[in-house]
Amino acid sequence: MSEEQQIADYCEKGRAHWPDEPVTPLKSASVQCQMEETFYEHYLRYFQNAEEKRRWNVDTDIPWAAAEGNASELVVSIIESFCAVESFLPDYTSKIMALIRKSKGRALFQANWGYEESKHSLALERWLIASGKRTEDEMEDFERSLLGAEWKLPFETPRQMICYTMIQELATGLNYTNLRKLVHENGEGDPCLDKALRWLSSDESAHYNFFRKGVKTYMALDPEGTIADIKYVFDNFAMPAHALIPEWEKRGAEIEASGIYGPKMYLAKIRKPVLEDLNISRTQLKEAGLPSHEIDEVADRAETKAEQAKQALYPRITSLPAIPVAASRVQKNHVVRLFFGSPISGNPAFYIKWNIKNSRKRQVNFIVPLIFKRN
Ligand SMILES: [Fe+2]
Ligand SMILES: [Fe+2]
Repeated sequence: MSEEQQIADYCEKGRAHWPDEPVTPLKSASVQCQMEETFYEHYLRYFQNAEEKRRWNVDTDIPWAAAEGNASELVVSIIESFCAVESFLPDYTSKIMALIRKSKGRALFQANWGYEESKHSLALERWLIASGKRTEDEMEDFERSLLGAEWKLPFETPRQMICYTMIQELATGLNYTNLRKLVHENGEGDPCLDKALRWLSSDESAHYNFFRKGVKTYMALDPEGTIADIKYVFDNFAMPAHALIPEWEKRGAEIEASGIYGPKMYLAKIRKPVLEDLNISRTQLKEAGLPSHEIDEVADRAETKAEQAKQALYPRITSLPAIPVAASRVQKNHVVRLFFGSPISGNPAFYIKWNIKNSRKRQVNFIVPLIFKRN
């Protein structure tokens, strides 16, 4: 894969699909100490990865000259709404930092997080102006309208807040991803907006991944308390700053009507996937007091996935059709090469390509479909 493809793939998917590193508890340390050790490790990996692969420059990594004015007022209003949410960053950073200051890993992450988030409102605001949809004066007026409000921590403890930020980052990433799809499908996008939204989605995905690993660390070391906090946070969850932004009722309705984000999307794409991802057992979900229909849905899916993963480890029996006649005549000095990969779709392990040199040194190819059976 070329570097450009890798970056595109990375921007598209983020790293939320990356496998988790196992948490290895220290035998001779307190639970708190183990958590701190793990958080710091997570931060170092996060930072290294961000430095090597994910840094982007607001000025040079977005093609500002390609900003066009073909977005509808609805899309522009939604982008302005997202910009407003991002603009409460001074409150997010200062208040969360004060809460988790004593954790080195989390505090360093929070500093880095603040830097990355600061680029989001800059990029959105700059697109609004570069596309000609808003003037600098209009943006200044809009920002002034937000200054009277102050965001407060929605939860009190560091563990509840990491549960909150995990959910919120996944939801924010989904908002940007769906907005990008919407403008693309409606032909309202431009290369500048597309690139900006890809960078933002990629950052949000990385933030979600750090927080989910943090929640998993808490889960590994104190499952009961963590599950109780997850339930409490879900029961009281709201996206940040919405109540502080003028006319949010109208803005939220626009976002929901356009299919970008809303209560149904939250349940299907955030709440259930998060519960599944955390590998909480059916019994633990019951003990935490989640609604029974949700427990069944989440636990059934998690159990099915676990069963499929187990099945994938079983040895496979591969049945080959009868070897073509010419292949059965292969002599000792002939070369037989096996190629895995479909010649049609590039999908691996569906065909074997027999590449045989016959006695006259001519190359003979056979493409043989494979049938996989599981025990
Ligand atoms: Fe952001
Ligand atoms: Fe974020």
